[in-house]
Amino acid sequence: MLKLRAMRLKDKVAIVTGAGSGFGSGIAQRFAAAGAHVIINDIDRAAAEQVTLLINNKGHSAVPVVGDVSCAKDMARMVARGIEHFGSLDIMVNNAGITHTNRSMLDVDEATFERVFAVNVKACYLSALNVIPQFINQGRGGVILNIASIAGLRPRPGLTWYCASKGALIAMTRAMAVELAEKSIRVNALCPVAGDTPLLPRFLADNTSEAMAAMISTIPMGRLATPGDIADAALFMVSDEASFITGSILEVDGGRGI
Ligand SMILES: NC(=O)c1ccc[n+]([C@@H]2O[C@H](COP(=O)([O-])OP(=O)(O)OC[C@H]3O[C@@H](n4cnc5c(N)ncnc54)[C@H](O)[C@@H]3O)[C@@H](O)[C@H]2O)c1
Repeated sequence: MLKLRAMRLKDKVAIVTGAGSGFGSGIAQRFAAAGAHVIINDIDRAAAEQVTLLINNKGHSAVPVVGDVSCAKDMARMVARGIEHFGSLDIMVNNAGITHTNRSMLDVDEATFERVFAVNVKACYLSALNVIPQFINQGRGGVILNIASIAGLRPRPGLTWYCASKGALIAMTRAMAVELAEKSIRVNALCPVAGDTPLLPRFLADNTSEAMAAMISTIPMGRLATPGDIADAALFMVSDEASFITGSILEVDGGRGI
């Protein structure tokens, strides 16, 4: 039987985007506790600095890099800063994501549509342009993990363009995986179900306990995802224990996708 190592990411260098809150914060903290050096990206400076402090105060290793993942210059700066600070790069987690509020597809304006696709889809392209050449130059492969959503596989009404952006991210994950396999660069995605994070109210049709109960009633295991659930799955997917897994779309959803 496979024996899991406690420090599964010892001395690996990881970037986690949108790590100032929710799932990203959980992933960053779990990676750091497993021995990784973590670049904490967020567009929100205070949030990035707070999570970095939390990690460093526990004796683990993190550095904040503030930036917008949909901006080519910010993405290039983030990757360069990580490599400059920690000397190399092994893991890229494209986690930052946004949604339009739950509404008819016809009521989402063009600027909002474009912003959702810029943050949820274009950022993955921009990160590829920066991290893949670095992985190839280092000559030891690398790992990309995209945080998609069960909404990209099993859409809900009211979230059409958000669902579509996650569907695009899932297709990107699989296409990238097949193109990068010969270079030992693995590309996978997680599909969380609705999670207990600050983003959640935007997914709900209205802000009532009835709307929340209706959402939870569609999840066979009867609860929301936690940052810990997503962090555990992320840790496995980027670790060497998953070294033969690529192009995989892992549902972390209490059965919602069935
Ligand atoms: N919470 C859910 O119900 C749920 C379910 C499935 C998938 N997801 C996905 O999980 C990921 C994380 O979501 P969350 O629930 O933790 O959200 P969250 O809002 O709690 O955290 C997202 C973080 O990303 C940051 N961010 C937003 N835009 C950014 C940008 N352009 N550049 C850099 N940082 C940016 C925010 O400041 C925030 O700190 C997203 O991709 C989301 O689509 C969430």
